Order: sequence, then structure tokens, then C-alpha cells
Amino acid sequence: MSKNDWDNIAKIAEDLVRKAAQQIKLSLKNELIVEYKSNPNDLVTEMDRKIEAYFFEEITKQFPQHFILGEEGTGKDLHSLDGTVWIIDPIDGTTNFVHQQRHFAISVGIYEDGVGKVGIIYDVMGDELYLAIEHQGAYVNGVQLPVLGEAKVSDSLIAVNSGWIVKDERLTKLVRNCRGTRAYGAAAIEMASVAANRIDGYISLNLSPWDFAAGAILVKEVGGIVSTIDGSDLDLLHNCTICVAKKGLYQELQDEYLNNKKG
Ligand code: IPD
Ligand code: CA
Ligand code: CA
Repeated sequence: MSKNDWDNIAKIAEDLVRKAAQQIKLSLKNELIVEYKSNPNDLVTEMDRKIEAYFFEEITKQFPQHFILGEEGTGKDLHSLDGTVWIIDPIDGTTNFVHQQRHFAISVGIYEDGVGKVGIIYDVMGDELYLAIEHQGAYVNGVQLPVLGEAKVSDSLIAVNSGWIVKDERLTKLVRNCRGTRAYGAAAIEMASVAANRIDGYISLNLSPWDFAAGAILVKEVGGIVSTIDGSDLDLLHNCTICVAKKGLYQELQDEYLNNKKG
């Protein structure tokens, strides 16, 4: 597909994201129906499902040949990244959506044969729309994000969930050595925040493709590095660990984590 094709797909995707966000905002006026998935801390609302269904309906109408992988079950039998694949998290940060009615995002990453082409993350209540198109840079609300500089652990702000720090001692030393940690409760917002130079890195020990598909495209477009914690490519069809950071910091984070036997 040509640059024009991708520009056009990006416009359509952005339009869908904005319309989906409108539906989510309107839903906040009504009482939410919340259910548990795998456990009482794994929440899903009827809006997660409705928004994914909305994307499915619109994408299949406009691009019947494209594939879709979504958190709420769309494409659960997808075993290949061949062709054009939309990887969607209809609401990233559902716990924030339920408890806080803010700090959640819609995340859409579009890949062709496994290569990231378009990444969109929309922080719905913050009204910040991040958009990246391969080789064209990354933008927030239409303003281009500068290429990221380098950083060191000692002067870095790193996003990591406290749950992981408690579970994996190798993170303890890292946390002691950095300037501070943050946890926003939405992987997409954390990755967008690295791209926007608001935090310097983000680590998670278990994310799904829909959590990072768009964020990985954004971060790469501003010169950041994204991989699993042991340096492998992200797995866009299965869960994996993730390490996202500016240059310099990325290597230090990996070395510290992999070499830390105890905290
Ligand atoms: C979750 C959020 C959270 C991350 C979890 C994800 P969801 O996504 O991104 O920050 O730590 O691993 O599952 O369930 O709110 O879409
Ligand atoms: Ca998610
Ligand atoms: Ca979700």
C-alpha cells in the first residue's frame, strides 16, 4: 500500500476512534454495568464490548479484507499477522474507567504483515489524541512530538505497576535507583507518555498485544526503543513482557533488570 493509502486509513481510523470516544463519554451519564472476567480485579463493562463491536462493524464494512484482533474476543482465532491487522483495545484502563471515569484510552494499532503502520491512542477524558504513521513521526492533537533524547536510570521517571515490584525482586533495585516511579493504570497512556517525553520508560511483566500495539508504533516514531524485557521483539499475537524507553536508559534498564538476582 502507498503512503496515500496509509494516510487515508489513518484518517478513517482517527474518525472511528473519535466517534467511539463520543459514545464512551455519553455512557458516563448512565450507570455502568460491570462484570468480572478472570477474577474480581479483572473488570469489563458493557462499553468495552460495545465499542469493540462498533470497531468491528465499521472496519469490516469499509475494509472487508482486513483482520481485527481485539481484547473482547474479536479475532481470538487469529494466528497470523499476514495482511492488514487492526489490533484494538476498546478501553485501555477499564479499572480507571469504572473507578475514576478518567485516565482511560482507546488504542488502535494497524499492522501490515507484522509491521506497524498506524498507531492511535486517545486519552478520552484528557482529550489527547496521539497519532503516528510509519516514517512520518508522532503527533499529539496535531502537534509533532520531538525525537526523544537519551536518559539514565538515576535521573529517570519510570512507569511500573506496584504489583510487579512486589512480585519480582529484580525490579526493586531498579526502583530504588531511578528518580521516581509512576503507575497510570493504562498501558497505552503509559506508552504515549514515554512518546511525549513525560516519563522516560515503562516496564510491564505481562501485557497483551492490544495493550501495546499502538504504543509501540508511537514510541518507535520518536526514536524510543520497545521490546520485551529480555530484548526480543514484541509478540503481537500473544502476551509478553515489555520494556519501553529512551536510548541509553533502555540498555541500562535491561542490564539492571536481567543482572539483578535479588533486590
Ligand atoms: C490493563 C491496563 C493496565 C495494565 C494491564 C492491562 P485493560 O488493560 O493497561 O495498565 O497493567 O496489564 O490489562 O484491562 O484496562 O484494558
Ligand atoms: Ca488494555
Ligand atoms: Ca481493555
